[in-house]
Amino acid sequence: MQTTTPMLELVDIYKSFGDVEVLKGISAKIDKGELLTFVGPSGCGKTTLLRIVGGFTTATSGQVILDGEDIGKLPPNMRNTKMVFQSYALFPHMNVRKNIGFGLKLQKWPKQKIDTRVEELLSLVHMEGLGDRTIDRISGGQQQRVALARALALEPKVLLLDEPLSNLDANLRVVMREEIRNIQERIAITTIFVTHDQYEAMSISDRLLVLHEGVIQQIGSPIDIYERPANEFIAGFVGYVNFLEGTVDAIDEKTNISSVITEYGKLELDHDQEDIKVGDKVLLVIRPETVSLSPSHGTERPNTFHGTVESQMYAGNLAKYTVKFGDKEMVVDHYNPMGSDKFSKYDKVKVTVPRAIHVLKR
Ligand SMILES: Nc1ncnc2c1ncn2[C@@H]1O[C@H](COP(=O)(O)OP(=O)(O)OP(=O)(O)O)[C@@H](O)[C@H]1O
Ligand SMILES: [Mg+2]
Repeated sequence: MQTTTPMLELVDIYKSFGDVEVLKGISAKIDKGELLTFVGPSGCGKTTLLRIVGGFTTATSGQVILDGEDIGKLPPNMRNTKMVFQSYALFPHMNVRKNIGFGLKLQKWPKQKIDTRVEELLSLVHMEGLGDRTIDRISGGQQQRVALARALALEPKVLLLDEPLSNLDANLRVVMREEIRNIQERIAITTIFVTHDQYEAMSISDRLLVLHEGVIQQIGSPIDIYERPANEFIAGFVGYVNFLEGTVDAIDEKTNISSVITEYGKLELDHDQEDIKVGDKVLLVIRPETVSLSPSHGTERPNTFHGTVESQMYAGNLAKYTVKFGDKEMVVDHYNPMGSDKFSKYDKVKVTVPRAIHVLKR
């Protein structure tokens, strides 16, 4: 069956600066109306990849296909993509209205049509009434809105945003993040968002493309990235993770429950990994909030290690413990701890890990 053509397709993109290879075979498809985020550590090539899409840098090899057309050789203004730069690049002495309408004027739109479109855009980015202010008389967040409105004026097929929130303070970042997502969804514009902030990426995206050392580590929804990480890098990329090594000892064919031997005892696991066989070495990805703690005495439970509380921190909504068993330390987050057991340093405890944890093949 034929699936719909993606709005944007990157095909095996390589990019070198001199003899340094920055991008090593990037392929990805982006659906119409989707917000995809390029995320990864500083210097991993996010901006370079975005600039290749926008036409500000050419790839060493590979293709950029926009709505079925190879645009790799076209200059930025012929691409039907629009990039918002980190610095916004607004005209400081022009007013908001003129900044937003700038591209329309270049396209020789009639004045009245420009005015109508600019009003529409002012309303879209919640800047009604501020059209006559000059850029140096509006706030950072408002400048961000103007840059966004200007980029959207000619209805590009793909909007490219490079670290659009990095000049804003922490509170405003969250407000503007929600605003951008809101506008993006409302006009259903295909968008690539670049950030080095994992949490920002998780909260704004339909899917994340995680780059590291010039290679895509995983493309997936926030849930895929957090709950089904493809490798150790991704598992450690968002949030804390306790890793535990083990060997698959047996797999029950009826229930698909694997029994995994670790240095600290045996675990029964109901993981979703299909290619795991008896004898495989695996790495268990144990999130702190999935582990439960109970007093050391009391009924024995499966998937339990006995340990000692090494440190504890109580923050009202969360109690955080480090528990030591053997030479292993495990971090345990206990949300909503009010009215439940609390533990102190040196307490003997049982650490119970859930059956459904993600495993990685080693
Ligand atoms: N014009 C250039 N000439 C030479 N090297 C470059 C050039 N542009 C980027 N690089 C190098 O390519 C690598 C990727 O750079 P890029 O700007 O794409 O990273 P980034 O992921 O956007 O990082 P950041 O999060 O810091 O913005 C870096 O090592 C950078 O030094
Ligand atoms: Mg960058």
